[in-house]
Amino acid sequence: MKKKLIAGNWKMNGGLAANEALLQALLAGVGTPACGVAVCVPAPYLAQVQALCAASPIELGAQDLSMHAQGAYTGEVSAAMLRDFGVRYCLAGHSERRQYHGETDGLVADKAKAALAAGITPIVCVGETLAEREAGQTEEVVKRQLAAVIHANGHCISEIVVAYEPVWAIGTGRTATPEQAQQVHALLRAQLKLASTQADRIQILYGGSMNAANAAQLLAQPDIDGGLIGGASLKAPDFLTIIAAAQ
Ligand code: G3P
Repeated sequence: MKKKLIAGNWKMNGGLAANEALLQALLAGVGTPACGVAVCVPAPYLAQVQALCAASPIELGAQDLSMHAQGAYTGEVSAAMLRDFGVRYCLAGHSERRQYHGETDGLVADKAKAALAAGITPIVCVGETLAEREAGQTEEVVKRQLAAVIHANGHCISEIVVAYEPVWAIGTGRTATPEQAQQVHALLRAQLKLASTQADRIQILYGGSMNAANAAQLLAQPDIDGGLIGGASLKAPDFLTIIAAAQ
């Protein structure tokens, strides 16, 4: 039975005191979850979160990484450096990096490859903009984004996690309906099945205004294997409610 995964994406939020308070509340309430739990934190906080979450069910995640293994890439962080901190998961191709940093499908695929090479599970983010959805291009966009990752990592595609994050639902409170999300997740599953006999084992997460109120309905969908949570991951009661809904 495939475990669901609930990953929090703190984005560029946090602070030593705030992180301590949030993590203490999560650790007090997380118990022994039947799902995977991770928090993807800004790089400066990796050591703090690693220390606080050691020997707990909360895994450490990062939000980005370099496609390069090492070298003269000022400001970048390599997969090996993340591994040094016990990072288990790393986002690749979050829509905010595609939008603000011009990350291409090819770069995202190479970042996923770098993560896998270091033993880190990439959470590869795909998703369409509102304009693309309204133009009927959702399937074309998400399949194109995933195809680049499959092409670069076909031999170990079963080791990735995919996150479908409709851009129009991120941070807007306008969550995709369970039916809308399931429709795209089913498309992604079918695409993965063409690339791997293990496609049913690959976790496909939904992200985009998943919260305590709607998580159970979304997670009940057959191809929604978890959530990638932004805003609600910064509120311990809400994040714990979402984790409980993923049992
Ligand atoms: O990576 C998850 C994030 O993009 C979703 O954000 O605030 O809509 O849950 P939010």
